[in-house]
Amino acid sequence: MGTSVIKALKYLLLFNISLTFIYTNEVSASPVTLPAAKMSRRLVAVQGMVYCKSCKYSGINTLLEASPLQGATVKLACNNTKRGVTMETKTDKNGYFFMLAPNKLTTYAFHTCRAWATNPGPAAATVTCTVPSQLNNGTTGAMLKPSKSINIAERGYVLFSVGPFAFEPACTR
Ligand SMILES: *[C@@H]1O[C@H](CO)[C@@H](O)[C@H](O)[C@H]1NC(C)=O
Ligand SMILES: *[C@@H]1O[C@H](CO)[C@@H](O)[C@H](O)[C@H]1NC(C)=O
Repeated sequence: MGTSVIKALKYLLLFNISLTFIYTNEVSASPVTLPAAKMSRRLVAVQGMVYCKSCKYSGINTLLEASPLQGATVKLACNNTKRGVTMETKTDKNGYFFMLAPNKLTTYAFHTCRAWATNPGPAAATVTCTVPSQLNNGTTGAMLKPSKSINIAERGYVLFSVGPFAFEPACTR
């Protein structure tokens, strides 16, 4: 009789200890979860334009009389992790580019990204727009400016803008 009471007490004590253990673990884990912050985390899309500057304004920081450059390469690089993220895209016939960054890059790390116009592309050969312009940090790397939230294939993105970038025409005024 006496031993079974002690046995029951022992089980009760063990049960109590494990409950306390679970409880403490839950409490210590709770500050790590930030549901509100997680909800605002979105993916990164980047857009912009690339132009060939007018001969008239070669070397001057303006896009007056500039023309859209098709096939120019724009590079995005981010130090969001140790290995980072890099990607490239090309402008369309309107000089416009749009890219969706890999999913491992979220809006939390957008400030670690820079974008450049790296190559003027084949269209530049006919107009000799070959030298990258520093306009809007086109050679040193432009920071991403958030413009709006968009959904693509039911995924939340923030669309960032860079540039407009330009290449200098090789001509004498
Ligand atoms: C990433 O970090 C490296 C090393 O510090 C630096 O050279 C590079 O410019 C950085 N890239 C960006 C996009 O900030
Ligand atoms: C351009 O670079 C300068 C110097 O690093 C920086 O202060 C400025 O914010 C940059 N602007 C953009 C749009 O990247």
